[in-house]
Amino acid sequence: MGNLISISGRSTLIGTEPPATVRAPEIEPGVGCNFDSYLLVPDNTLHDRIAAAKARLGEDVVILGHHYQRDEVIQFADFRGDSLKLSFQAAEAYSRYIVFCGVHFMAESADILRRPHQVVVLPDLNAGCSMADMADIGQVEACWRELASVVDVSKIVPVTYMNSTAAIKAFTGQQGGSICTSSNAAAVLKWAFENGEKVLFLPDEHLGRNTGYRMGIPLGEMIVWDPYQEFGGNTPEAVRKARIILWKGYCSVHQRFTPEQVARVRREHPGIRVIVHPECRFEVAQAADQIGSTEGIIKAIESAPASSEWAVGTEIHLVNRLGKAFHDRKVISLDRNVCVCTTMFRITPQHLLWALENLGSGNVVNRISVDERTRYCARLALDRMLSLR
Ligand code: 13P
Ligand code: SF4
Repeated sequence: MGNLISISGRSTLIGTEPPATVRAPEIEPGVGCNFDSYLLVPDNTLHDRIAAAKARLGEDVVILGHHYQRDEVIQFADFRGDSLKLSFQAAEAYSRYIVFCGVHFMAESADILRRPHQVVVLPDLNAGCSMADMADIGQVEACWRELASVVDVSKIVPVTYMNSTAAIKAFTGQQGGSICTSSNAAAVLKWAFENGEKVLFLPDEHLGRNTGYRMGIPLGEMIVWDPYQEFGGNTPEAVRKARIILWKGYCSVHQRFTPEQVARVRREHPGIRVIVHPECRFEVAQAADQIGSTEGIIKAIESAPASSEWAVGTEIHLVNRLGKAFHDRKVISLDRNVCVCTTMFRITPQHLLWALENLGSGNVVNRISVDERTRYCARLALDRMLSLR
């Protein structure tokens, strides 16, 4: 049986043993672990080879794919989703190998949530997230010490966006906080204010502000903590008064959407509905008709009437896929210039093939492995979020 960890009065089962049906992988000698040779695989053979490698691994592998993945990759995902959905899938999977077609922080989270017999693989280790890199653990710990010099930090609850490193998640767990995603940020903030007086929201300034404002917290009660400025660029008085301290971090993709684009699309397409991801700036979120996580955006368009028109403020692969999936609705990007998440784009079919064929030969390549202490503390913060279902 797994261990029982008790969090805020709730118990969560972790470390459950795999079912007896999980097979050992067949060893296929001869597949090298050098990625470069995969760059030479002819494009027209990639699909069949990936499908064959996946079929050979059978139940030993589960492929998770984030909505921003390119079509040629996401078509192989057993489960597609936003960060929240994929973390539930990672926590519930039994397969020996979890191949994560997404970015580094997502694979790290899967490694934190996995069972002991599982291994998490990220097909390209360069698939990072610029926002997650904007909060360094040293900076966050320094911020906490500085806050402690003017307020009682036991009354501050850290709420950390999934888009963060495992070290920041562990810090959050240690300090009694919770992880959130773009689809449950309001529920997690509500929980945080039931458990403390202030929130330190990491590392996305915009998600924190957009969510706090929609919950009725005035802009004047939210301050920004800039780790490159003395005392975060604030006065002790401002910190004492603030209800939410927003870390100065942002997504380079969603930062590109502007209120002018919203005005233009409405001029050019009267009646169009504008839906944006909550990582967009406050002015954009305010100008839009709706806000949604990637999963929320999909659901909104899926349930919309035929012939409705949508301008979507999020990554272009998802927008294009929605346009193709719903022929009877018009779906366009809010930004005329293509908005690609270049790190999500790093997962190519070649990388996926390389990872799968190596696993089929018993070689684990690009394993994501979070050290035990970090995993333990980060899991506390992730479990708090998952228990708020
Ligand atoms: P979602 O949780 O909405 O999928 O967002 C993840 C992400 O990285 C958006 O930039
Ligand atoms: Fe990170 Fe932005 Fe890419 Fe999401 S879209 S993974 S937040 S860089």
